[in-house]
Amino acid sequence: MKLPDVEGWLTQAEGDLLARCCEEAPSGAIVELGSYVGLSTIVMARTGRFIHSIDPHEGTMHDPPIYPPSWDKFKNNLWLHDVHRQVIAIRACSTEVRWHSPIAFLYIDAEHTYAAAKADYEHFAPYLMEGSLVGFHDYGEPGCPGITRYVDEELSHLSMVALADHLIVLRGK
Ligand SMILES: C[S@@+](CC[C@H](N)C(=O)[O-])C[C@H]1O[C@@H](n2cnc3c(N)ncnc32)[C@H](O)[C@@H]1O
Repeated sequence: MKLPDVEGWLTQAEGDLLARCCEEAPSGAIVELGSYVGLSTIVMARTGRFIHSIDPHEGTMHDPPIYPPSWDKFKNNLWLHDVHRQVIAIRACSTEVRWHSPIAFLYIDAEHTYAAAKADYEHFAPYLMEGSLVGFHDYGEPGCPGITRYVDEELSHLSMVALADHLIVLRGK
């Protein structure tokens, strides 16, 4: 399906792969880390699955901040694209969330350092269910070397399911 007209960084091929992951993931939670104004959230929610979308939306997490506050635009975009009922928005930093349920698809696109990718993955990995998928955006992107290094160095034991532009999807378990 064509990408919605929403600000963001996804390519069409990445959007198609994200939607496919939601469609093919087993029954269980779909968790997105980093939603900004909702482009990837909308792409995933349009599949009819419920999306747990985790982002503080404060735009103040970095010094200097690189994202402006995004909550109002995020909420508005979900309404405009009629997916607000499909999205459970959690306004928090990824590692502050006390997660409990089995995860079918974990999509990581939050802070793009090696340390943050590691912290994000390790915080949620215990909940990945059999047959689950894990996606990292900006894999292989020259501006985000920490993502590529983390996936290559620490997750090489996971099998790769697909790669589209800079979205890599691995089998979680
Ligand atoms: C690249 S943007 C996400 C883009 C979005 N996935 C899309 O495709 O439109 C990164 C977002 O991650 C959020 N973020 C940064 N650190 C985070 C963290 N520790 N936990 C959750 N969200 C975080 C920022 O607030 C920002 O909105």
